[in-house]
Amino acid sequence: MNQLYYGDNLEIMRKHLPDESVDLIYLDPPFNSRRAYNIIFKDEKGKRASSQIEAFEDTWRWTPPTAQAFDELMSSSLVSPQLKTTMTAFKSFMKTSDLMAYLTMMAIRLVELHRVLKESGSLYLHCDPTASHYLKILLDQIFGQRNFRNEIIWKRTSSHGNVKRKFGAIHDTILFYCKGKESTWNQLFTPYDEGYHRTYYGRKDKSGRRYTLDNITAPMQRASKGQIYEWKGYKPGPSRCWIYAIEKMKELDEAGRLHYTKTGGIRYIRYLDEMEGVKAQDIWTDIRPVPANESLGYPTQKPVALLERIVKASSNEGLVVLDPFCGCGTAIVAAERHGRSWIGIDITYYAIGLVKKRLSDQFPDIVFDELGIPKSFDDAAHLARTKPFQFESWAVSLIGAQPFKSSGGGDTGIDGLLFFKDYAEGHHRIIVEVKGGGYQPKDIRALKQVMIRDEAPLGIIIALKEPTKGMISEAADMGYWKLPGGKVSYPVLQIFTIQDYFDGKRPHLPDTSGTLKEAKRLIRERDKHPKIPGLE
Ligand SMILES: C[S@@+](CC[C@H](N)C(=O)[O-])C[C@H]1O[C@@H](n2cnc3c(N)ncnc32)[C@H](O)[C@@H]1O
Repeated sequence: MNQLYYGDNLEIMRKHLPDESVDLIYLDPPFNSRRAYNIIFKDEKGKRASSQIEAFEDTWRWTPPTAQAFDELMSSSLVSPQLKTTMTAFKSFMKTSDLMAYLTMMAIRLVELHRVLKESGSLYLHCDPTASHYLKILLDQIFGQRNFRNEIIWKRTSSHGNVKRKFGAIHDTILFYCKGKESTWNQLFTPYDEGYHRTYYGRKDKSGRRYTLDNITAPMQRASKGQIYEWKGYKPGPSRCWIYAIEKMKELDEAGRLHYTKTGGIRYIRYLDEMEGVKAQDIWTDIRPVPANESLGYPTQKPVALLERIVKASSNEGLVVLDPFCGCGTAIVAAERHGRSWIGIDITYYAIGLVKKRLSDQFPDIVFDELGIPKSFDDAAHLARTKPFQFESWAVSLIGAQPFKSSGGGDTGIDGLLFFKDYAEGHHRIIVEVKGGGYQPKDIRALKQVMIRDEAPLGIIIALKEPTKGMISEAADMGYWKLPGGKVSYPVLQIFTIQDYFDGKRPHLPDTSGTLKEAKRLIRERDKHPKIPGLE
């Protein structure tokens, strides 16, 4: 069963994932690059807006939970003595630095990932040169040096012009390990490059198909019965035999696949479009950065083509792919497209909301379980109490709004935005405010001021608690607004409660479906080549 979890992957793996239950793990954790990844949104006219929200902070600090994780690693029976020695050695020179915090939080998770991986499974850790050398040492200790398969270099961008006194850094590193010797593996091929085409397949037939001429003789020592004969007056040459028996030669001749040279030789006509390509190697330069029509604006989003290569090489249909740092869900999309089951985990509700929307845009009939995501009023109240910012993200996503946080910081009175157009293609915005705690009539008046300031005709408060009668009448006093050029009117300010949402009600709003970028629909591989009963 496909599963999407909101929460910390360490807790989720410990609570929900049994030993040896997944076949392939791809993880793309924050890289310890000491930056916060902001999402820059577009405004209602499609321009870069000044609003942005922090998707996640890529900074690791030595805090009490890190110290506790380090102690746990040192005392756990799941952790090998070699890993304990390595961690102690790291700590002796890294002390309690950010890098040590990062490696501690990664080590404790990698141990869990090794536990949940099946014996035939593989793990791909996506990182960059900031910490890849240390992560490889950890993986060598956890998976065993002999289970290291590749250090894949992915050229993620073409060039960086603004570097000083060093070379442009344009690659990421993907460390590939297996758990056991008999790991799932499908040999993949990549297309030949243009230079190879020109050098080796320089000839073209009448229809423009590129081909080359191959030798069809071999040294006599390699001859077996039936490979020494004369064909149409041609002989293989001194001390040589044909590589084909006479029946095959006849077949190739009839198919027009033999070329008779002026010098008395025969060659096989090999077409380029019939070749599989070259065996895929460990330097990947053919996968471009996320194309514009695939981008959801999520910082660090990876291209689906990259994940498809990993999924196809190291798993088969029906096997389970786990991405414990799933971001906007690229690995999930690749898994779904290729008929694998999947488990995705992310610690921010913003990412989870995005994955949900992406999946329903790309595969409208998709079925998956949502875990850790509020399913009742009590769940929502718990989220509001324990993680107010995550509650805001979740609440805003309920009506498909774009989360909002001013780049200048400070409370702007706006938690989200919705956009719509009127009949004359005029652009408008709706201000969304989330109230996870108490709120009063003065909050409604304050929102009215924000709407006037931002020239937003409509506003909506998403509230955990029921409004008082006074608040309802304060909101009602703001009256109705009619869509320019149309007949329909909408309440200027609506109060939409979390209970309303669970009761199946929805606010009365114009068509705001263009607010969040729509991911383009994808066809699953099995639907491209459907199996016909009786012909399988
Ligand atoms: C580099 S991004 C992954 C991007 C992803 N590969 C994609 O294509 O969209 C890392 C993600 O890890 C999430 N994350 C960070 N710490 C986490 C944790 N402890 N548990 C689960 N997710 C976490 C962040 O919220 C972020 O979305």
